[in-house]
Amino acid sequence: MGRITGVEIFRTKSVEQSIRDTEAPEHQLRKRLTATDLTVFGIGVIVGTGIFVLTGQVAKEVAGPAVAVSFVVAGVVCGLAALCYAEFASTIPVAGSAYTFSFATLGEFPAWVIGWDLTLELALAAAVVAVGWSGYFASLLSSVGIHLPASIAGDDPVVNVPAVLIVLILTTVLVTGIKVSSRVNLVLVITKIAVVLLVIVAGLFFVKAANYTPFIPEAVSTARVEGLKAPLIQVVFGVTPVAFGVLGVFSAAAIVFFAFIGFDIVATAAEETIEPQRDVPRGILGSLAICTALYVAVSLVVVGMQRYDQLSTSAPLSDAFVSVGQNWLATIISIGAIAGLTTVVLVLLLGQTRVLFAMCRDGLLPRPMAKVDPRFGTPARLTITIGVVTMALAGFVSFGELAELVNIGTLFAFVVVSIGVMVLRRTRPDLPRAFRAPLVPVLPIASVLACLYLMLNLPVQTWLRFVVWMIIGVVVYFTYGYRHSRTAAAARAGSDG
Ligand code: ALA
Repeated sequence: MGRITGVEIFRTKSVEQSIRDTEAPEHQLRKRLTATDLTVFGIGVIVGTGIFVLTGQVAKEVAGPAVAVSFVVAGVVCGLAALCYAEFASTIPVAGSAYTFSFATLGEFPAWVIGWDLTLELALAAAVVAVGWSGYFASLLSSVGIHLPASIAGDDPVVNVPAVLIVLILTTVLVTGIKVSSRVNLVLVITKIAVVLLVIVAGLFFVKAANYTPFIPEAVSTARVEGLKAPLIQVVFGVTPVAFGVLGVFSAAAIVFFAFIGFDIVATAAEETIEPQRDVPRGILGSLAICTALYVAVSLVVVGMQRYDQLSTSAPLSDAFVSVGQNWLATIISIGAIAGLTTVVLVLLLGQTRVLFAMCRDGLLPRPMAKVDPRFGTPARLTITIGVVTMALAGFVSFGELAELVNIGTLFAFVVVSIGVMVLRRTRPDLPRAFRAPLVPVLPIASVLACLYLMLNLPVQTWLRFVVWMIIGVVVYFTYGYRHSRTAAAARAGSDG
């Protein structure tokens, strides 16, 4: 083994090489997706726990009726990052999203770091949402008189059986083919959007103007959260977090950010898109815009139906209908939530597969894992492995706060992608960019700052867990990836692509 050098670990993989790699027959994914498929995928993964659960919690505890404004703030932060993702995806239409973009701009080691980070975001998020799915499923069953034993479902089961089963079913769907999964997804997304629209339209009839005053409740200092649970910003700057008031609206934005996670995953399907340069930006920006509009409308309706301090924190959308005596609508909404969360898990698993696929193909993880199954045209082996790991996580681990880890991982990826856009404009001004983010470098810098601000609002323990995960990643890189990297091997052989 030779000496590890800075030159090697920061070696970039050329954009041309990234695109050439996708053409090797044994690693070729089928190109079948259109802009509409991508938008559906986007909505499929974006609309989930955030709108079905967090809206109530955040309105009640942090923002009041102004939670709608928090959604706008988080939507704007995501919009900045989305424009950067769109430019990248239109320039480098290769599976792997932020991982691939970093490899082309910042080098192999930063790319590894981001790929490892995306693994945290996607696999953990899939497991978290599967557990949420199980909660809704159990509550729907109990509303028709079937009560699952506490050992297999509910708040603290020994093994969360419904969560394991949903991951098992969705893994099978993904193994059998991207087009099949895109169709399953379409049906579920239509159900979900229909239910969200139902909440908006039916809810309007029960809105009381009085519930909107005060729109931004007066600020109150929350009991200072000490120790590991305190937001990093509080520890670093000695700022006491406030609930409500204008600052509360911004703190809430850091939490509802979770509701937007997923648009970045559209970029992971670039390689399977028929015309990625044109359609990936459309898919990313389209799904983000639609979701922002839905979130603002839903949250305005829900806080109009029920006073913010009385909203439920576990099932605010359906409970708002129970509060106005419409139990049957509440049941329909629960069914929609189950459909909605199903698509979230599906697309998260898909995104996870594609990121690891790209990392295996580059030799940073074992290459045989990424072999495409000739029957299905999908990386079956990898998909099954990820499914099994996610099942274990969803079945046995109780998450709660780990959703915040998902947030920090995602925000970190947004920061790197925003920096990467500026780097690639300088290093490869010649590349054709079907989509160009406006106002570079002002826009990517604003994106970096906005994401960092949201990251600072996350608790110290989240930061610590994040740092530990990343250290493990660095160790894996230097013990495996660094030695097996194809880019480095090609360079050593004197044939750098
Ligand atoms: N955005 C996804 C959700 O709200 C992760 O569940």
